[in-house]
Amino acid sequence: MITVIGLGFVGLTTALGFSDKGYSVYGYDIDQKKKEMLTKGNIPFYEPYLNEKLNQHLNIGFKIVDDLQEAVDNSEVIFLCVGTPSKIDGSAHLGYIFDAIKSITACIKKPNFKVLVIKSTIPPSTTSERIKPYIENLGFKVGVDIGLTNNPEFLREGYAWEDFMNPDRIVIGQEEDKSGQYVESIYQSFNVPIYRVSLNTAEFIKYLSNTLLATLISFANEQSLIAKYIGDIDIKKSFQVLHLDKRWFGAPSNMTSYVYPGCGFGGYCLPKDTMALVNQALKNSYSPELLKGTLNVNETMKEFVVNDVAGKVTEKEHIGILGLAFKPNSNDIRDTPAKSIIDGLLRKGYKNIIAYDPMAIEEFKEAYSLPIEYSSDLKSLLAKVNHVVILTAWDEFLLNQESIKKKNVFDYRYIYD
Ligand SMILES: NC(=O)c1ccc[n+]([C@@H]2O[C@H](COP(=O)([O-])OP(=O)(O)OC[C@H]3O[C@@H](n4cnc5c(N)ncnc54)[C@H](O)[C@@H]3O)[C@@H](O)[C@H]2O)c1
Repeated sequence: MITVIGLGFVGLTTALGFSDKGYSVYGYDIDQKKKEMLTKGNIPFYEPYLNEKLNQHLNIGFKIVDDLQEAVDNSEVIFLCVGTPSKIDGSAHLGYIFDAIKSITACIKKPNFKVLVIKSTIPPSTTSERIKPYIENLGFKVGVDIGLTNNPEFLREGYAWEDFMNPDRIVIGQEEDKSGQYVESIYQSFNVPIYRVSLNTAEFIKYLSNTLLATLISFANEQSLIAKYIGDIDIKKSFQVLHLDKRWFGAPSNMTSYVYPGCGFGGYCLPKDTMALVNQALKNSYSPELLKGTLNVNETMKEFVVNDVAGKVTEKEHIGILGLAFKPNSNDIRDTPAKSIIDGLLRKGYKNIIAYDPMAIEEFKEAYSLPIEYSSDLKSLLAKVNHVVILTAWDEFLLNQESIKKKNVFDYRYIYD
């Protein structure tokens, strides 16, 4: 039996994925509203397959509990999937992890050995230098009374179910074999390579992955700016030709999508994880210049978009923003470039901004309460504006290019030829 703490994108997928594999899973979250929705069979965000899987497993293999004691008593392994947002200085906020550990350990009765698995993304050395001492201060000897491992998650939003069920690799960070073995046995049926490594190595592998993706995007974005400043360069064609290099072949085709220009990366992972690794490196006396550049270019992209629009559109005119989610097929608006870009336009005095997104309007409105208008469909937005700014590469904008292209288009996702 397994308990999953934190039922967001990662935790809910993990809980349902293990239920699908035949485990009995308890799910626990402190967000009452989220729990109520889930217990009624509704998921609080958009993610393909999860609604069906929730309704298939709810109250059969997957039980959502109010009482953490019941879950802990009956589980051998407890996955922590709580958030690790950025603090002001860019470091990872570990408060949710510590709070969850405090609640879990309050339910553990020695000598019942339980293994804690940190699935949340935390900077290298956090499990060994912060979490282990924290647990030991609560009166548990790690490796003796309680097992401690980490198991970074690599799923992509929009593909959470497919990525969780068919991972490329499983990484388990361990300090002692017994706990690592527990976690490895849970993943046996996934039939993928399992790497048991040190705690720091497992944490590092996750950041290696996310900061590479962020750097690829910033590389492509910086190149697009160089090309724009030089002029008369077909940026989309240039990247398409770049992708024809034989050395890309065999690389998952999705990898090339990160080497493609846009208006900056966003979402819950790349910005915060890149900032956290920069912060962690600085704390350890190393200044990571390339990653600092990755973040700087990401900010520059958003400023470029604002200045580019401002250079070509007068303040009185109406501007249509197409796309609010940080990427297509998602309603996640956390750290979305659209927020900074709209903010920038508002600061420059643009008051007539109308935004449309196929999926993320409500989420965006609730999270940011910006003084702009929203349009419930593309057609009505197009009826009101002369200029459109594409900030998310939704298929809908590609399918409706004929009507969109009648306007003055700022295609910052390079979707059109
Ligand atoms: N979203 C992704 O694509 C993704 C991918 C890989 C890894 N990650 C990492 O996984 C972690 C979770 O990300 P997410 O997107 O699922 O976050 P999320 O914000 O969607 O979910 C976190 C959940 O944890 C709950 N929570 C917080 N404190 C709790 C506590 N003490 N007890 C019980 N529940 C608690 C919150 O209420 C929330 O529902 C983060 O560290 C993130 O970096 C995210």
